[in-house]
Amino acid sequence: MFENKKIVIVGGSSGIGYAVAQKALNAGAQVIIASRSDEKLNAAAKQLGERVQTEVVDASSDQSVADFFRRVGHFDHLAVTIKPQLPSGRFLENDVGSVVAAFDAKFWGQYRLAKYGAQYIQKNGSITFTSGIASRRGYLGYSAVSAMNAATEALSKAIAIELAPIRVNTVCPGFVDTEPPTSGRAQHIKVLSPTLPLNRLGVASEIADAYLYLFANSYSTGTVVVVDGGAIC
Ligand SMILES: NC(=O)c1ccc[n+]([C@@H]2O[C@H](COP(=O)([O-])OP(=O)(O)OC[C@H]3O[C@@H](n4cnc5c(N)ncnc54)[C@H](OP(=O)(O)O)[C@@H]3O)[C@@H](O)[C@H]2O)c1
Repeated sequence: MFENKKIVIVGGSSGIGYAVAQKALNAGAQVIIASRSDEKLNAAAKQLGERVQTEVVDASSDQSVADFFRRVGHFDHLAVTIKPQLPSGRFLENDVGSVVAAFDAKFWGQYRLAKYGAQYIQKNGSITFTSGIASRRGYLGYSAVSAMNAATEALSKAIAIELAPIRVNTVCPGFVDTEPPTSGRAQHIKVLSPTLPLNRLGVASEIADAYLYLFANSYSTGTVVVVDGGAIC
């Protein structure tokens, strides 16, 4: 389905981005995964196989993003699945500096990637951002995450108008099991699962399907695809 398509995934060295890379490769695409750590990228590429290429980029830096796209050249689809260290303290206790740094990587990172990348994307290509269900309702201790996810969705709708015919969309995941298993994590999952209609967290490959849908569907732009197992029903 994606033969002869070049797909760039920033945040592709782990989690949801890695699953998008796997599915895009299986669908025949040429795939470039990018993130800050060469080591993480090489480990991911080893698993993904010979056809994947890697590129180092830091989405917090204009220079790094501009240089990255000069190296990549023209391509078809961009997915951004960056997750910085997300602040999860109470609003009054959170350090403003760490909130601003997280916003800089996740929201402004997506902004920079779209801004510098658009000129390299084919006219029938697309950009897919990632938000998260904290954009849709408040969660205790996640005010900054709510704000950056809502800002991401608003940005994608606004620039879908300006960048057309390039399509711009957002995938909004619910709770996804992408973190390494620890006893604390296992307890968190045990408590969280019964609060969800499907009684479990999602897995990265279930979220990845939404990116492939948005790459392929030529009439979807300015939209948000929520994949959350019914978490915000
Ligand atoms: N997992 C969930 O439950 C969940 C729920 C809702 C929304 N989301 C959203 O889904 C997205 C993916 O989450 P995930 O759990 O799959 O994350 P993840 O496994 O932690 O992967 C994050 C990726 O972002 C890269 N990255 C971080 N900062 C970067 C930067 N400044 N520049 C370039 N790359 C950077 C990381 O690689 P390096 O460290 O090498 O840079 C890594 O490849 C995030 O936007 C997250 O907020 C996740």
